[in-house]
Amino acid sequence: MIVRNNKDLDGLMRIGQICGLTLQHMLAHVEPGMTTKQLDNIGAEFLKKHNATSAPITAYNYPGWTCISINDEAAHGIPGKRVIQSGDVVNIDVSAVLEGYWGDTGASMLVPPIEPQYARLCDFTKEALYAGIQQARTDKPLNAIGKAVQAVAKKGGYRLIRQLGGHGVGRHIHEKPNVPNHFNPRARMRLKEGLVITIEPFLNLGRGHIVTDLDGWTLRTPDKSISAQYEHTVIIAGDNPILITKVEGGH
Ligand code: CO
Ligand code: CO
Repeated sequence: MIVRNNKDLDGLMRIGQICGLTLQHMLAHVEPGMTTKQLDNIGAEFLKKHNATSAPITAYNYPGWTCISINDEAAHGIPGKRVIQSGDVVNIDVSAVLEGYWGDTGASMLVPPIEPQYARLCDFTKEALYAGIQQARTDKPLNAIGKAVQAVAKKGGYRLIRQLGGHGVGRHIHEKPNVPNHFNPRARMRLKEGLVITIEPFLNLGRGHIVTDLDGWTLRTPDKSISAQYEHTVIIAGDNPILITKVEGGH
């Protein structure tokens, strides 16, 4: 969507902050021994308390309030009986809707003991997110975002999962345009003032391939490699993009 007025801005800020705070609340409650369903319930309660509802349930009838993806699961992991273990790489993606406005954020975290190569992967993925955000300016070409993200992945020696990327958001969870994480020479569209998009690089320690599980949702790396993802919802605003999902102490 394009932000047209203060009502749009306020509505987006409200749901963006709720998404950011829900993610932060869930990350703080991750503990070895709990199931991903228990973690999802914590997120669901937090969203309900703020009168928000799950975007994936509302839009796609997805079987969970949030997406929780562990280790070789790159995205869209369904909350369930899986038990979180010491040393796991856990990705939580929270997207939600309130009063017709939609927000989307995500982050990866490491359950101690921390494996240094995974910590480095997370650091580079965050750096890639902010390199993309740096390019999210009025009248810049859309593909400047992917170009910047890709440069950071390359610098770190990581593959991108090219099938996954950012997207328009605001009036629905997935809107136009797609926001690739690699340089696409054809994606020259200029970023309009007020456009709302997500930026969400997925960096991977393996070949960067994913396949869909038989559950129809979970996206998994066939080479069992680890990925990290960090995501914000961003409003294009001159040279100062507004990160509506950023909260104090968050990524
Ligand atoms: Co997301
Ligand atoms: Co997204």
